[in-house]
Amino acid sequence: MRIPVIAGNWKMFNTVGESLALVRDLKAQVADAQGVQIVVAPVFTAIHAVAAELKGSNIAVSSQDVYWEETGAFTGEVGPAMLKDAGCAYAIIGHSERRQFFGETDDTVNKKVKAALKAGLIPIMCVGELLEEREAGKTMQVVEKQVKGGITGISSDDIAKIIIAYEPVWAIGTGKTATPAQAQEVHKAIRALIAALAGTQVAVGLRILYGGSVKADNVDVLMREEDIDGALVGGASLKADSFARIVKFSK
Ligand code: PGA
Repeated sequence: MRIPVIAGNWKMFNTVGESLALVRDLKAQVADAQGVQIVVAPVFTAIHAVAAELKGSNIAVSSQDVYWEETGAFTGEVGPAMLKDAGCAYAIIGHSERRQFFGETDDTVNKKVKAALKAGLIPIMCVGELLEEREAGKTMQVVEKQVKGGITGISSDDIAKIIIAYEPVWAIGTGKTATPAQAQEVHKAIRALIAALAGTQVAVGLRILYGGSVKADNVDVLMREEDIDGALVGGASLKADSFARIVKFSK
């Protein structure tokens, strides 16, 4: 009953022209895909053109980040209503690269998730442990802290609108995917945590995506796991063929 979500995070790739070429190809290849929500996240500069190109299609647009204020003297930032206006329906928040390189914390993630919800954007909130944290047996401790921190002060009704992406940092862009069992273990624990914080009904409906080297050749086994409700795909979302195959995963 949870509709799977396959989201492509393009990171800092693709000019406007390249973005349009990619979505034109993708749109044709996934036109017949059913029972799955398809999302692409271009760079800020390409959002508007991509959203216009995808109007009326089965592919939605996400930003890769969002600021928590609506407007103001915040040079370089983009507010949630502006993203909505440009054609976004989703916002990726708290990606590990933002946590690692741009000072994102659980507190800023929380502010951004709240602001996105207020503007009617669906947050795709990313969490995940570093390799040394996994090796030290701290995976669940880290993920729990990030999940709790990200949803602090948010009502159960609003938590129900959030998508969580579990992305072990050691699996991102490394070609090293978590095994389906490793991912399932964490997804199941996240769902249990949400049940405790927001109630069983919210937890049962919550979409939890796996991210980290998802490819055409490993998506099927991942999607067979009970608590994996989709994928956040980086590298393999930059080519229409591979992303379309991921969208058309088979369980
Ligand atoms: P990857 O990236 O698929 O290239 O590992 C995933 C992500 O960063 O969301």
